Amino acid sequence: MKETKTLKLLDNIQFIYELALARLELQSFNPDLKVTNDFREFELKDDGNFETLKRRLAYFKTIDGDYSDYYYLQKYNQTKSVNQYLTHWIYPYKGKFHPQMIRALMNIIKIQNGEKLFDPFVGSGTAVLEAQILGINAIGLDISPLCVLISKVKTESVDALDEIKKYKDFYLFKKGVKEPSDEKVKNFYKVAEMMAHSDQSRRGKNFESSFISDALKMIASVEDYGNAIKKHNLKIGKTKILEGDARKINLKDESVDGIITSPPYSIALNYVANDAHSLKALGYDLEKIKEDFIGVRGTGLNKFELYDKDMKKAYSEMYRVLKKNKYCVVVIGNVTFQGQEINTTQSVINCCEKIGFKTIKKMEKIIYGLYNVMQKEYILIFQK
Ligand SMILES: C[S@@+](CC[C@H](N)C(=O)[O-])C[C@H]1O[C@@H](n2cnc3c(N)ncnc32)[C@H](O)[C@@H]1O
Repeated sequence: MKETKTLKLLDNIQFIYELALARLELQSFNPDLKVTNDFREFELKDDGNFETLKRRLAYFKTIDGDYSDYYYLQKYNQTKSVNQYLTHWIYPYKGKFHPQMIRALMNIIKIQNGEKLFDPFVGSGTAVLEAQILGINAIGLDISPLCVLISKVKTESVDALDEIKKYKDFYLFKKGVKEPSDEKVKNFYKVAEMMAHSDQSRRGKNFESSFISDALKMIASVEDYGNAIKKHNLKIGKTKILEGDARKINLKDESVDGIITSPPYSIALNYVANDAHSLKALGYDLEKIKEDFIGVRGTGLNKFELYDKDMKKAYSEMYRVLKKNKYCVVVIGNVTFQGQEINTTQSVINCCEKIGFKTIKKMEKIIYGLYNVMQKEYILIFQK
């Protein structure tokens, strides 16, 4: 008879959806499992793939007594927030994914090392970075040049760490005269500058001192990333970040192995106004670029019509670029407009099914966010 092994959950698991995802990610490797010890542990029949479990799982602290990679990775953290490890914390982007959830979802959709994950609304780059850490190649797309810049810096700086450090005095203390030629170095300090703009406009902080402290903390995080790669022998994935429109994706038909994304939640957040300080500092005309941002165009009720039309195009494009039988995960929330809840989630399901997707799962994701305000979102899993 095969031996039984015990897996313990990480201490930070607190929400039901996390427990559900933990179970699903484990099931995708081995369906023969049992939940024990009041939901904090799982028992599994040993099928010899414990090394894979240790390397890939997102919600588990120990696997048969050995710590998981994730347990160690979360500790490379320059912030106070448990989920903002490595370079995830860079730039205070509103509506970031929880990276641990992305890792679990990649396991659930069974995306393999060397395969390609795509996020057509990449935002601050969470999905792409998390894929890279796990050894999965990833493409991220966003209409916002700021998002493209942030996502590049989070995923590409580790290759340019020595150069970034070499130019520290030049950027931080205005010493030396020679500008770098390396795009990665320029991007790195540009994002530090954008963070200082954000600190100044949102929190009234001093620009110069914020710039120095943000840049130093960013360098420490990139160093952490480099050290984690060496220490845990991570085979990181290749990444590509593209500026472009999700309604017209510049990728070939059936060219990606999985999609995990979170589009704008209807008209809930104005991504142009929200990052106006940084976009302006980068030299963009907000009125001009706003026209291509989904959920921002139009006024009043017309905004909803335009949103639905735009998203239909985006979901059709996602369907087109995804390989047959592969999965597309959409994280979405309903919005309230003039006191009425708009069921964006059901619209997504209807629209995706019309295009040809099969709905595999609809999971509720309820959390208590900032100031203990309840946030309800949905994780939708579709298959082509
Ligand atoms: C909910 S956010 C994504 C956040 C992301 N999951 C993260 O972890 O940071 C939605 C993103 O859609 C982008 N967006 C809006 N219109 C777009 C379009 N037409 N094409 C591509 N991206 C667009 C916005 O710039 C925003 O970054």
